[in-house]
Amino acid sequence: MSDAEIIPDPLPDLLEEHVRLLEEVRAAFSSAADDKALEAARVKYLGRKAGLVQAEFDRIKTLPGEERRAFGKSANALRQAVERELAAARIGHGTSEIDISAPRLDMTLPGRARELGHRHVLSQTTELLVNVAATLGFSVAEGPEVESEFNNFDALNIPREHPSYDPFDTFYIETPEGAEKLVLRSHTSPVQIREMKRHAPEPLRVVVPGRTYRPDKVDATHYHTFHQLEGLAVDSDITFQDLKYTLDLFAKGVFGEETLTRFRPSYFPFTEPSAEVDVSCPFCARDGGACPVCKATGWLEILGSGMVHPKVLSNGGYDPEDFTGFAFGMGVERIAMLRHGIRDIRLFIDPERGNDLRFLEQF
Ligand code: DAH
Repeated sequence: MSDAEIIPDPLPDLLEEHVRLLEEVRAAFSSAADDKALEAARVKYLGRKAGLVQAEFDRIKTLPGEERRAFGKSANALRQAVERELAAARIGHGTSEIDISAPRLDMTLPGRARELGHRHVLSQTTELLVNVAATLGFSVAEGPEVESEFNNFDALNIPREHPSYDPFDTFYIETPEGAEKLVLRSHTSPVQIREMKRHAPEPLRVVVPGRTYRPDKVDATHYHTFHQLEGLAVDSDITFQDLKYTLDLFAKGVFGEETLTRFRPSYFPFTEPSAEVDVSCPFCARDGGACPVCKATGWLEILGSGMVHPKVLSNGGYDPEDFTGFAFGMGVERIAMLRHGIRDIRLFIDPERGNDLRFLEQF
């Protein structure tokens, strides 16, 4: 690149004598063979004490008044031009702080594709579940992963003799003697209590996604850290029909329009009556053949549910004489595994077996 391309030329304000000086500077800078020579040339022209450009400024006060203005303007333009020349010369020498001379930008090269990340398959699944619930009128809430033992168990009518209180079944947080006992929540159900307390006596329809923990032995279907989606509806006249209708629509929204649901009697301390819900196996079209996913039964269990127990309603601040409700809870990993045909829960986040981009990028 020649100087002419960098420096606009000629400079309109420059007096004849300054044009000559600028030409001299250009010649000096461009013939400077190395950094040292360039630095010497810089001092010669731009040096504060004896620099030739500086000397032009010193001349101003010797001039008659009417010439000073034009001369000063020209001296300023000269100094700016010389500074630009110096910057250009430094680039040529590779001593500029920003060296644009190398490597050069080749505009003809194809662009580098920017790799876009995407959400983890468990986040996608959670979002799907929440979105389907939202179409059914549920809002979304969250609760803390470190929860009181009381909310996690007692408030949900789980009796003291229940095995899940055992530290072999639930992670307890170390707390000082006498302080409130804390756990890593073993399910999202304690958020039922929090949400009821927050909303009572207003009607409530909410889903709660979140992370949950249990000291289970890790295998293909169990992991110490997993995710659930809780659902809760409380109002003055909610019946088991509402539960069935809502969960049937929910299953259709998640697994497809043709999905059928089946409700089997079950037991949970926080619901009465309780039901486990199965969906027709989306993989074998209920032919009952040799489907490995439903083990040839044609049905897949996806969640637990029931009518909220009167004691739980009252622990949440609702009078069970005036209010009823239904609740449900499901494992997000299980739903993701069913939807995508994933066989091992460790593939999601386990540092050794999973969390591998080659796996995650498929979803
Ligand atoms: N909390 C139960 C669990 O972790 C799941 C569950 C079952 C939640 C029934 C509910 C319910 O809300 O009604 O196994």
